[in-house]
Amino acid sequence: MIVLGIETSCDETAAAVIEDGRTIHANVIASQAEIHSTFGGVVPEVASRQHLLTINAVVRKALEDAGAELRDLDTVAVTYGPGLAGSLLVGVNTAKALAYASGLPFIGVNHLEGHIYAAWLEEVDIDSEPGFPLLCLIVSGGHTDLVLMRGHGDFELVGRTRDDAAGEAFDKGARVLGLGYPGGPPIQKAAEESGGGEDPFPRPRVEGGFDFSFSGLKTALLERARSRRMYPAPDDGLDRAMVSAMADAYQEAIVDSLVTVTVRAVKATGVNGLVLCGGVAANAALRAEMQDRCRVPVIVPRPLLCTDNGAMIGAAAHYRLRDGHSSEWDLDILPGLGIGNR
Ligand code: KG4
Ligand code: ZN
Repeated sequence: MIVLGIETSCDETAAAVIEDGRTIHANVIASQAEIHSTFGGVVPEVASRQHLLTINAVVRKALEDAGAELRDLDTVAVTYGPGLAGSLLVGVNTAKALAYASGLPFIGVNHLEGHIYAAWLEEVDIDSEPGFPLLCLIVSGGHTDLVLMRGHGDFELVGRTRDDAAGEAFDKGARVLGLGYPGGPPIQKAAEESGGGEDPFPRPRVEGGFDFSFSGLKTALLERARSRRMYPAPDDGLDRAMVSAMADAYQEAIVDSLVTVTVRAVKATGVNGLVLCGGVAANAALRAEMQDRCRVPVIVPRPLLCTDNGAMIGAAAHYRLRDGHSSEWDLDILPGLGIGNR
């Protein structure tokens, strides 16, 4: 089964051609990050306008890379939520138009399920090794969700952030440290250059359950930066060594709290494996520390498949279609869509 997967929920215009939920024939991603970096974060109106300008070329390039025509496809799949309303609309309407005009079925995909299914694009056969049940930690710009996956399409939300998402913590932290947007990659880079020596940041304490909290950490960073006269940035620029050391301690606090809660949830749920996914899963320190401290196999997609892409949407669609699902033409966007809600 060949699926065209389209993703426009935030600031990546993406399309991919995926066979059997596994083989990537094309994976085209046009990032708007540079445009939004001028504003220090994603501007929704700019994002939807940019999707509109780019989507046709991105889809055309994906088909070209795959050596496919629309008639070679079996289905068109698209993210219908969660995400920015104006951005989601561009993808959903493009997918509907393409599918309708080509006489193809069409299916809406939950973006969060997409992040999870990025793991199935890798070479391992997760269904048999390590096999269900699995725990999935989705860490992105908008979500920090711990999801118990008992089988394909069977999700239960067991933990989530009470305030900011992990990606948001990276993005806001980078703004304080003058490192630009998106914040994850430059914080990782600065941390890697650090000689250490910075006092650790206090770890957030969330009583009971498997929830996370990052807003206190962000405030602690801001207060420390202010007390050292690093924020607002002085006219003669920031001391790079101090920025690196702060980034290192800040990243370590985020990573430690993600890993601590997840390891506890892995034990309590008795799962066979952990899927680590979403944009923040591209973080090298998080990947290493999770592998280190988690007692079950950790399955984590390549960094390029962790951040938003169309391949993960094509992969997730495959399992929904296999189970007999498809969408009606009146499917609407759902900007606030969750996963396995309790
Ligand atoms: O999944 P994603 O591409 O988009 C959303 O669905 O939100 O995640 C984007 C988030 C941003 O907050 C970005 O700073 C973060 O993922 N991110 C990283 C890294 N690469 C991207 N965070 C930490 N380290 C990275 N290397
Ligand atoms: Zn995402």
